[in-house]
Parts: sequence; structure tokens; C-alpha cells
Amino acid sequence: MVKITFIQHNGTEQTVEGTPGMTVMEVAVKNQVPGIDADCGGACACATCHVFVEPDWQEKTGKRNPMEEDMLDFAFDVRDNSRLSCQIKVRDELDGLRLKVPAKQF
Ligand code: FES
Repeated sequence: MVKITFIQHNGTEQTVEGTPGMTVMEVAVKNQVPGIDADCGGACACATCHVFVEPDWQEKTGKRNPMEEDMLDFAFDVRDNSRLSCQIKVRDELDGLRLKVPAKQF
């Protein structure tokens, strides 16, 4: 299992477990992590699964893909470390991943 910690904007942390092959968004939804709405179900068409990757993890999570980049134009408070969590695949090397959830999705 791969542990992923979601940090709410008020500092509340929630550590959940995912299985390689799932997306980070699917792990969040399955564990009812607040603030990850994922309206489009992972089709990279809504930007309501926006997260901020903690700086230490940016290299391992990788870069945004072009479709994700376009979709992030619709997200609130986009930063250098913004990603759409439906575009991050859970892998063993992401064990311990830490992500912040934006104050709101739009
Ligand atoms: S779930 Fe819609 S863009 Fe990620």
C-alpha cells in the first residue's frame, strides 16, 4: 500500500492508503477526502481534483501533461506545484506523498 497525506488549507492532515494503478484522485474520493470533488470522474475535464504537490515530492510526481495544463487554466489559485490529482498515478515510489488541498476548487 502507498500512503498519501492530504493537508487541508486549515492544516488538518489525513493520511490514506492507495494501491499502485489507482490515481491519487481515486484514492482521495474512496477515502472521502474533503475538497477533492472530481466532478468529471478522472477524465481531465473539470479541474475539481486540483492539489498542490509539496515541494519535496514534485520531482517524483512528475510534470503536468498538456491536457492537464489546459484544464488547470480553469482552477482556482494555480501555483507552480499545482497538479490535477486524477493525472497522478499511484506508484510504490510515491509512498509518503504529501499534497495540499486548495481552499476551494473554483
Ligand atoms: S477529476 Fe476532473 S480533472 Fe481530475
